[in-house]
Amino acid sequence: MKVVLAKQAGYCFGVRRAVELTEKTLKGNATSLKKVQGSVFSLGALIHNPQAVARLEKKGLRIINSVKKAPEGSQLIIRSHGAPQEAVEAAREKGVRIIDATCPFVKNAQAAAKKFYQEGRQVVILGDAQHAEVIGINSRTEYTAIVLASVEEANKIDFSQKKIGLVCQTTQKIENLKKLVAVLTEKTKDLAIQNTICNDCSLKQEEVRKMARKFKAIVVVGGKQSSNTTKLFQIAQAEGAEAYHIEEANEIKKSWFRDKAAVGVVAGASTPDFSIEAVVRKLEVF
Ligand code: F3S
Repeated sequence: MKVVLAKQAGYCFGVRRAVELTEKTLKGNATSLKKVQGSVFSLGALIHNPQAVARLEKKGLRIINSVKKAPEGSQLIIRSHGAPQEAVEAAREKGVRIIDATCPFVKNAQAAAKKFYQEGRQVVILGDAQHAEVIGINSRTEYTAIVLASVEEANKIDFSQKKIGLVCQTTQKIENLKKLVAVLTEKTKDLAIQNTICNDCSLKQEEVRKMARKFKAIVVVGGKQSSNTTKLFQIAQAEGAEAYHIEEANEIKKSWFRDKAAVGVVAGASTPDFSIEAVVRKLEVF
C-alpha cells in the first residue's frame, strides 16, 4: 500500500523546542537516574502525548501540578504553552531554577496582554478560558482580561466606555479574529490588536483537508487528549474519508485497508517522530 505522510506532520516548532530543552536538562543532570528523578520537574504534562511523556519520565522527568512540589535547588520546566506569572515567580523565590520552554509565539501573546494592561486597556483574549495557555496570558493582566470563546459572546458585553487591547490564543482561527475585530470596532473607538495566532495548526488543518479529499483512508497519529490532533481527525471525517485516530502503531488493523491502494498519514503538533515513523513502517508492509 502506498503511504503518503503529510508535510506538516508532527511536532510544531514550540513543542520540539520544549522537548529538546527538557532532554538537554535531563542529560545535564544525568550522573545517576536517582539524582535526576528528584531534581527535574515539569509544571503539568510537558506535551499532550502519553508516549513522549513516558519516554521523558523514564529519563528522570517528574510531572508536578504545583510549584510547591518542586524542592529548593531543583529545576522546573515551563511547558510550551506557558504558565501563570505568579507560579513562575513563586518557584524563583523558592530557589527553583526555571527552564523556560514557553513557545516564543505564546510569549508574544503574554507580552502583548501585559503591555495592553499596563497601558490601561481592557484586555480581551479570544480563546478558551480553561486552557492553560489562556490562563497564563490572563495572569499577565492580573486576571482582569475578558476571555471570549466566540464572537457571539462579545455581542453581550458593553465595551463602549473602554479602551480595548485584543490578543488571541495561538491556536485560534484567523476567521474568528477577523469577525471579533469587526464586532469590537462597532463597540469601541479605541481598539488595539496584536495578532498572536500561530499558523502551525491552520497549516496542518489545510493539509489534512486536501489529503482527505484525495485518499479514501486517513490515519491520524497523536494523543487522544490532544485537541489539535482530534481536530485533524474531525476534519478528515467531515471531508468524507475513513479516518482512524491512533496513538501507537499497534492499534492499526489490517482490515481497515482491505480495499485501499493508498493511505494518508497526518499527525498533531505534539506527536513525536518515533510514533509517526512506527506507523508509517507498519502501514508500508500492508
Ligand atoms: Fe508554539 Fe504554535 Fe506550537 S504557538 S507551541 S509553535 S502550535
